[in-house]
Amino acid sequence: MSANPATICINGQWQNAKNKQTIDVFAPSNGKKISAIARGDAPDVDFAVKAARAAFEGVWSKTPAVERGRLLSKLSAKIAEHANELAELEAKDTGKAMKLARNDIAATVRYFEFYGGAADKLHGDTIPFLDGYQVIVNRVPRGVVGHIIPWNYPAQMFGRTIAACLAAGNTTVFKPAEDACLSVIRMTELAHGVGIPPGVINLVTGLGHEAGAALASHPDLDYLSFTGSPEVGTQIQKMAAEHHTPCVLELGGKSPQIVFEDADFDKAIPVIVSAIIQNTGQTCSAGSRVLVQKSIYDRFVAQLADKVRSVRVGAHDADLDCGPLISGAQCERVKGFLARAQADKIPVLAEGAIDENAQPGGYYVKPMLLGPVDPAHELAQLEVFGPVLVVIPFDDEAHAVQVANGTAFGLIAGVWTENGGRQLRVAKQIRVGQVYINGYGAGGGIELPFGGFKRSGYGRAKGFEALHEYTVTQTIVVNHG
Ligand code: NAI
Ligand code: MG
Repeated sequence: MSANPATICINGQWQNAKNKQTIDVFAPSNGKKISAIARGDAPDVDFAVKAARAAFEGVWSKTPAVERGRLLSKLSAKIAEHANELAELEAKDTGKAMKLARNDIAATVRYFEFYGGAADKLHGDTIPFLDGYQVIVNRVPRGVVGHIIPWNYPAQMFGRTIAACLAAGNTTVFKPAEDACLSVIRMTELAHGVGIPPGVINLVTGLGHEAGAALASHPDLDYLSFTGSPEVGTQIQKMAAEHHTPCVLELGGKSPQIVFEDADFDKAIPVIVSAIIQNTGQTCSAGSRVLVQKSIYDRFVAQLADKVRSVRVGAHDADLDCGPLISGAQCERVKGFLARAQADKIPVLAEGAIDENAQPGGYYVKPMLLGPVDPAHELAQLEVFGPVLVVIPFDDEAHAVQVANGTAFGLIAGVWTENGGRQLRVAKQIRVGQVYINGYGAGGGIELPFGGFKRSGYGRAKGFEALHEYTVTQTIVVNHG
């Protein structure tokens, strides 16, 4: 890594935060300090927004779409060239197993590839109007976009937000999470290396209530994207409302996997387990509730429990099924949920194992399968953000739909049944942004529009939909006589 991670990047210049302060970065696998990042704050954010504004009005709005696309494609190739280095950085910084980090970098490459190709394919419309008129509807960039992202998938989040935002012609101020952002710092450097002009991507690292709050409340933002906890999502909307800044929010989920009596167990079980242990459960679209029809409950749960018992947790470089959690605080949060479940006498059906070589000081928890859980219990309602899967029995289709929809969230869902009519009937009744039938796509599918219903947020990321989020229409009415 050549850019000093303890610096921020404004207008292409790497510099200390104005307060010269830094934040230590720890490796989740052993709790040891591995780096330090700059503790940017309001003055840095203000400077960054000004740089993004100047770049938007200057170079970037004058760069043709085809050229913006080429620059993003070049960045895609550059990230691919540095895939090993970036995957190692991502794994060490987040604790995730190397194979997942490799997948994440491959997805990041894909984001820049997809939006590089899409940049010059986004077009407007015409509308038939009165005689003597021509109406043109242009899709124009929003302008300066703020991004506040979490620590669970830093590299992918950089791809998901930056690639679409820049393809649509916006410039950005990017505030990654203080708990993990080393890959983002490196990719910002690579972006400048391939010729993305200074000021188009400005990176300000720092704490949520400092740099994050300064960005969300900045008066000169045209749009704000946030991914993270529902609690902070509420604060973000209040801050943005001061200046009527529109937002796209992705606030997590409590996504159900619904298993009907005619499901193919052998197909379903490995996918269901991997959808909760992926990234140690720290995935917004983790499948964290499994709803099982009562007629197969005992048989299905016995097989599911066997699979959970086979899960191994270890250091990022041990490359087992999953790694540690991101931080001591996250570990405490997950253990708190488990302690309350124990106090409420929820049966533990199975637990995975922590590798004997996992180092003390790392933030390890065992994957757990619990159930039956009352659908009203917090374990069935709240995002644990850890490898904790709960089982909930149901009677029939109507009951399954009621339980599936019975949380404040609505991000994604899985439906497991070989009955074609039921597949679509159930899918259409579930209030979530994506439904998978006989499969599950936690995090997958760059091409697929992604986002929530209800408290999971609003607006859409990914696919062509994201280009619509990052643009607005401007209608031009010509009276040509
Ligand atoms: P968080 O929501 O506090 O952090 C996400 C981002 O928001 C980070 O960049 C952070 O610096 C920023 N932020 C925090 N406070 C802010 C503020 N007042 N103003 C502006 N920006 C702010 O999430 P955290 O604390 O890291 O994790 C807590 C819980 O949130 C997790 O246990 C999990 O349940 C949930 N979460 C959900 C995510 C998802 O993708 N669904 C991602 C991260 C966390
Ligand atoms: Mg927080």
